Amino acid sequence: MGHPILIDTDPGQDDALAILLALAAPEKLDVRGIIAVAGNVPLPLTQKNARRLVDLAGRDDVPVYAGCSRPMVRDLITAENVHGRTGVDGYDWPKTKTPLQDQHGVDFIIDTLMAADEGEITLCTLGPLTNIAMALVKAPQCARGIGEIVMMGGGFFEGGNTTPAAEFNILVDPHAAHVVFNSALPLTLMPLDVTHKALATAYRIGDMAALGNETGRACAGMLSYFNRHDVEKYGSEGAPLHDPCVIAYLLKPELFDGKKVPVQIEISSGLTLGMTVMDWWGTTAEDPNCMVMNQIDADGYFDLLTAHLGRLP
Ligand code: RIB
Ligand code: CA
Repeated sequence: MGHPILIDTDPGQDDALAILLALAAPEKLDVRGIIAVAGNVPLPLTQKNARRLVDLAGRDDVPVYAGCSRPMVRDLITAENVHGRTGVDGYDWPKTKTPLQDQHGVDFIIDTLMAADEGEITLCTLGPLTNIAMALVKAPQCARGIGEIVMMGGGFFEGGNTTPAAEFNILVDPHAAHVVFNSALPLTLMPLDVTHKALATAYRIGDMAALGNETGRACAGMLSYFNRHDVEKYGSEGAPLHDPCVIAYLLKPELFDGKKVPVQIEISSGLTLGMTVMDWWGTTAEDPNCMVMNQIDADGYFDLLTAHLGRLP
């Protein structure tokens, strides 16, 4: 049986490929549950999209939960301009089969962590950190069950993608991020500094389409849609494929490299709200609280991803 993980997510085309990657590696990853959070699109859509992905992967053994419908303090901001009205535009989705679990996603996270051995569970976060922070606030003792939190979010040398200073996942709920980054838990971060080096080029999308399975067709369609915004914005050959970096790190950590540094979250400023302030050069006496990845073997990453997508229906 694989390593037990929880996936907290706001699908989102890039979340979709991260979830499919995890579901395609049952021998390495035991996905105990997928918890949707409001982010790219509102919660009713992110929870539906998570269920669609479980259907596509043929993994209806994995339960899906709905977590928080809004950030802890701020009003919700969404990203339909990037992801489309549904959040996973680019593919003609069939009717959803997998049911939504009745339990609130935050309570599922707490119950799973409380029942786990010390440090047993890895939390994989692909969206705003609202659910994780709410679990830590409601039941601080549940932290005992967390071995590591691997997150997509933030940026430093790359700046922000939603404001000049802030990346979307952190900006949506900077207060939740502040709770997590001050939790003293083992943190590993996949910021824009690494995801911007992993571009979904036409060639790489073509490899997915050439798989010949429904999953490959769905991923190629989603990424083709996902590309249109960032290619125009950055003038790049493809959109950064952010979220699968989290899962790829668990499957093949040698694809990544980085540095453990102090990271704090701006929660007060109007100009830099949601900035991940990284003391990359040791200018403070702060203790390093986060392993920040800024290097990736991009070809190895896409080879790993596409090979696993080929395992699915
Ligand atoms: O800034 C990129 C992140 O925001 C990704 O997780 C994407 O899915 C959106 O949630
Ligand atoms: Ca996401």
